[in-house]
Amino acid sequence: MGRINIEKLNKAYANRRKLPRSDESPQLRKGDDIIVLKDIDLKISDGEMVCFLGPSGCGKSTLLRIIAGFEDLSSGKVRINGKSVNGPSADHIFVFQHSGLFPWMTVAQNVGLGVRHLSSDGRHKRIGEFLEMVELEGFEQHYPRQLSGGMQRRAELARALAVNPDILIMDEPFSGLDFLTHMKMREEVVNMHAFIQKTILLVTHNIDDALIMGDRVVILGGSPTGVAMDRKLEFPRPRNFEKSPELSRLRSELFLMMGVNYAV
Ligand SMILES: Nc1ncnc2c1ncn2[C@@H]1O[C@H](COP(=O)(O)OP(=O)(O)O)[C@@H](O)[C@H]1O
Ligand SMILES: [Mg+2]
Repeated sequence: MGRINIEKLNKAYANRRKLPRSDESPQLRKGDDIIVLKDIDLKISDGEMVCFLGPSGCGKSTLLRIIAGFEDLSSGKVRINGKSVNGPSADHIFVFQHSGLFPWMTVAQNVGLGVRHLSSDGRHKRIGEFLEMVELEGFEQHYPRQLSGGMQRRAELARALAVNPDILIMDEPFSGLDFLTHMKMREEVVNMHAFIQKTILLVTHNIDDALIMGDRVVILGGSPTGVAMDRKLEFPRPRNFEKSPELSRLRSELFLMMGVNYAV
C-alpha cells in the first residue's frame, strides 16, 4: 500500500547568508527563517501517479525528500499508510536516482542490489523479470559503461522496480536524456505504472510529461510555495494532444500558469 497524507506541511530553512539591512526595506538577516513550503495539504491514493510541476527552486525536491523521510518538516504531518514518517523507510519508498549505477557491478548485480534478501533463484527470477520489462534482456553481464545513456536509465528503473516499493519517487528522472530517449522512457514509465500499479511521485519541469503520464498533476507555486493547482487527469491512455482538444486546452492553461503565452 502506498497511501500518503500530507497535512499543513510547512518547511523553513535558516537563512545562512548575511545580507545588508536597510531601514526602508528590512531584509532577511542571518539565522532568520526562510519559508520554503507553506500549508501543503495533499492526499495521495494507493497506486496513483502524481506529477509535480513548479518553477525551479520552488521546493519540489524538498517536498519529495520530506515524504521520503530524508528531511525533517518544520510543522505539519506526513503520514504513509496512516503512520507518521519518521526517517527514511527502505520498505516503503524507493527514490529513483539517475547516475546511480555502480560502475564496478554488472547490470544484473546492480539490479539485484535491492533484492539481496531473496534466495539465489528468486533473485535471478526477479532480476530477469525486471530487465525484460525495461527491454534489457541479454545485457545482464554488461557493465554500465558498456550501455548507452538511455539503457543505463532503464537499468536504473529496473533496479527501482525490483525492490518492489509501495511508493516510487522520481525527481526529474528524464533530465539529461536526448529527446527520443526521453520519449521512450516516458512511455516505459507509463506502461510500467499500468503494470505494477504502485504509487509514483514524479517531479518534472516538463508540462507535457505531466499531462501524458499523470493520473493527477499538482502544481507548486507562489511565495512561499503552496499548491497552486491540483487536478485529476482522467484522459484515456495512450494520450495525445492532437487527438484530445480538452487535453490540449489544459496544456495551454498550464503553460499560461507558468508564464508562457504561446506554447508550441
Ligand atoms: N539544505 C538547505 N538549506 C537551505 N536552503 C535550502 C536547502 N535545500 C533547499 N533549500 C532551498 O529551498 C528552496 C527549494 O529547493 P528545492 O526543493 O531544491 O527546489 P526545486 O526542486 O523545486 O528546484 C530553494 O530556494 C533552495 O535554495
Ligand atoms: Mg529539484
